[in-house]
Amino acid sequence: MRMVSTLAEKPVAVFDSGVGGLTVLHELLVSLPTEDYVYLGDTARFPYGDRSLEELRGFSVEITDHLLESEVKLLVIACNAASSAALGTIEDHLIARGAEIDVIGVVSASTQLAVAGSRTGRIGLLATPATVASGAYERAVRAADPHVHLESVACPDLAPIIQSGSPFDDAVVATVRGYCAPLRGAQVDTVILGCTHYPLVAPLLQRTLGRGVQLMTSGTGVARGVERALAARGLLNPRTDEGDYRFRCTGDVESFRALGTRFLQMPLGEVTHVELPARLSV
Ligand code: DGL
Repeated sequence: MRMVSTLAEKPVAVFDSGVGGLTVLHELLVSLPTEDYVYLGDTARFPYGDRSLEELRGFSVEITDHLLESEVKLLVIACNAASSAALGTIEDHLIARGAEIDVIGVVSASTQLAVAGSRTGRIGLLATPATVASGAYERAVRAADPHVHLESVACPDLAPIIQSGSPFDDAVVATVRGYCAPLRGAQVDTVILGCTHYPLVAPLLQRTLGRGVQLMTSGTGVARGVERALAARGLLNPRTDEGDYRFRCTGDVESFRALGTRFLQMPLGEVTHVELPARLSV
């Protein structure tokens, strides 16, 4: 076991409601393979997509407190619902706790790529009901360019379909077609995948939306943001070999391991079950 001695050698923390955040972790592993990571999937309370803002803020603070116990050096909220509801709350919470670490969400990364990449200025958003209801993407697009039109579609069933590991039967294809229909109608040329689970079904979405539509995900932008944030504080891990990855979840460890291994295409190793404090649990 290697001794962790300096702040730069501490892990980067990543969390989501389930396996969706693994799409962000994947990009982090590509860009920053020498970092150590601790990933938490709050699978016991999945899905986040139909939670209220208050619930999402409570869960996010609770997870942040848990991850701070592992002395992490940066926090990635790899969940759009939690980022939309709780990014500011977590920033304030970290300041209140005197924890001088950066927190990076997923909304601005994909929005900036989409606004920069759209030729027509007509962008679509597929996201969970909580993310759409928060208005976070509307605000982010308006801030990036007030003349860009955003067409938002809430997809209540899509993340649960992916998280359940369901086979792609006709019903799933019909559900996805239904979600994409308003975006085809609105003639968008760019679609933000506003849920970190959705890149896991990118081929299905691309087929349904057609060749002329480019899909935007947050992973690469987040990885760039993490790299810059760590570099700015002199916190890039100085090691030259591959980092360690640790996985935790609040629900069933075996199903998380099986699904995560399939999606990340990498053995997750031991997945630790964690109980978060009961005061905010449901
Ligand atoms: N992966 C989460 C997100 O990006 C959502 C999935 C859920 O509903 O929990 O919003």
